[in-house]
Amino acid sequence: MERLHWRTWFEVGHDTIDFEHKTFFSLIHKLQSLVEVTHDREGAQRALEETYKYADFHFTSEENIMIEAGYKDFERHHELHQKLLKRLRQNIDDMESGLISGSEVVTFLFMWFVEHTIAEDLELSTQLKKRQLRQFFQAPTQHDESPEGDVGRP
Ligand SMILES: [Fe+2]
Repeated sequence: MERLHWRTWFEVGHDTIDFEHKTFFSLIHKLQSLVEVTHDREGAQRALEETYKYADFHFTSEENIMIEAGYKDFERHHELHQKLLKRLRQNIDDMESGLISGSEVVTFLFMWFVEHTIAEDLELSTQLKKRQLRQFFQAPTQHDESPEGDVGRP
């Protein structure tokens, strides 16, 4: 597989999500180096554990953003995250037992990352932006507020 590089079209336009995606991608990139350049099998296994833990953290982080925003598609998106963690664990086990190669795990991770990001996470980011826009237009202007402010309230 050719060397992986970050592309701007991977970005979804949400600072936290894009930052974490870049870290996740850098882990896939590191794994590819260990598997295809230095052929470091033990290093690749350690990098995969790191990738698994980071994926778990990132999904929780992304899901907390969804919950705070009242994202309507939360359950389905959460299910996709859970399925990825299961498949990733299976890939790690299969690589350790020699059923699949390290390159196959790299391809699996990269394909999943791109497909999930440009479909699911982009949709999430778009909905978050629409919500922000609605809040912006619904926010009271100075003219809407009483000149007395909180005077008279208990
Ligand atoms: Fe996601």
